[in-house]
Amino acid sequence: MSLKDFNKKAYSKLSLRTAISSAVFTTLLAAGLLWIVTDYFWQQILLMAACLFMISFLVVYAVSDRLHKERLKQLNKIVKNMSRKKFDDYDSDLSQSSDELDMLIHRTVKASDSVNKELSRLNKIENYRKEFIGDISHELKTPIFAIQGFIETLLNGAVHDDKVNELFLKKAMRNVNRLIFLTNDLMEISRLETGEMKSNIKDMYLRDVILDVVETLQYKAQKEDIEIHVKDFDKNIQVKADRNQIKQILTNLIENGMKYNKPGGYVEIGITDYKKAKEKLMLYVKDTGIGIDKKDLNRVTERFFRVDKSRSREKGGTGLGLAIVKHIVEAHGEKLFIESQSEVGSTFSITLTRSNNILV
Ligand SMILES: Nc1ncnc2c1ncn2[C@@H]1O[C@H](COP(=O)(O)OP(=O)(O)O)[C@@H](O)[C@H]1O
Ligand SMILES: [Mg+2]
Repeated sequence: MSLKDFNKKAYSKLSLRTAISSAVFTTLLAAGLLWIVTDYFWQQILLMAACLFMISFLVVYAVSDRLHKERLKQLNKIVKNMSRKKFDDYDSDLSQSSDELDMLIHRTVKASDSVNKELSRLNKIENYRKEFIGDISHELKTPIFAIQGFIETLLNGAVHDDKVNELFLKKAMRNVNRLIFLTNDLMEISRLETGEMKSNIKDMYLRDVILDVVETLQYKAQKEDIEIHVKDFDKNIQVKADRNQIKQILTNLIENGMKYNKPGGYVEIGITDYKKAKEKLMLYVKDTGIGIDKKDLNRVTERFFRVDKSRSREKGGTGLGLAIVKHIVEAHGEKLFIESQSEVGSTFSITLTRSNNILV
């Protein structure tokens, strides 16, 4: 028997079985009583029993069929749709007088909703993964092809020309460095996006961390003719955050402030009050750089988005810095704000939660 036939017959089979068993039971009980209590002949009792059997069979069959059939059909439809990965919006509100079958329908609808949600979640992850792999291979191609080109030229004879030789090796090295930055940032972002990297949130001194990061970037700043300035604020201010991740945020933002700036430019780091919540403060990194056009402002935190690809590449950018910042800020339950004006400069601010601990 095919599943289709089985389904059709199954709706009536249940009613049929219920009707036969209750008719047999009622008839035997009534016939037994008549035999004991009355002095009818057995032929009369047999006739009455046959009539009773027919009546009770028909009544029970009709009632049972009416009670079960539609709901069994509905249940069958939901399960069938599920197996075909179809998930409609079913109505399955339970009333006070609901019976077991209603409960089963209700549970099946809930199961269908959860399977639907889980499938869409998995689809989203799968699409994200495909897109990510596409982006990565695209990003890897550029430096790899560049390195290949330089080596090929050297092998084709340029290796014997000392001037070209050194220049090409330097260029190849710059691309190798780009690959290193890229793999580091990729590892970082995938650990953040898969949730593998957890924030270790503790009370920390904010000024200490800022000065630490600025010190490591000072050499680069001098080379690029940029001045980094930390606005003075209370060194005892503490926030609840992951020290290493705040360092990472500051590094990315200050490096951007230097990269997308002009010689003689300025990067300032400081804190202000956050007006919307007293328990929070704002940490900002402000620059006097090239600024970001209004149309690109919402996109700069997207993975691999760069306003000017060649400028970013030339400065060793991967297009992942701000995406990493955004992830860390969100993992802290904080907010990132970007304000910018073309040719004037940009301010990147993040909220941080103040710690209540008073220091000794
Ligand atoms: N301070 C800034 N001033 C101007 N443009 C910026 C600044 N910070 C980021 N951008 C723009 O946003 C893009 C994405 O930044 P980011 O994710 O850090 O990648 P990148 O590796 O290119 O620096 C940059 O390529 C640049 O176009
Ligand atoms: Mg960057």
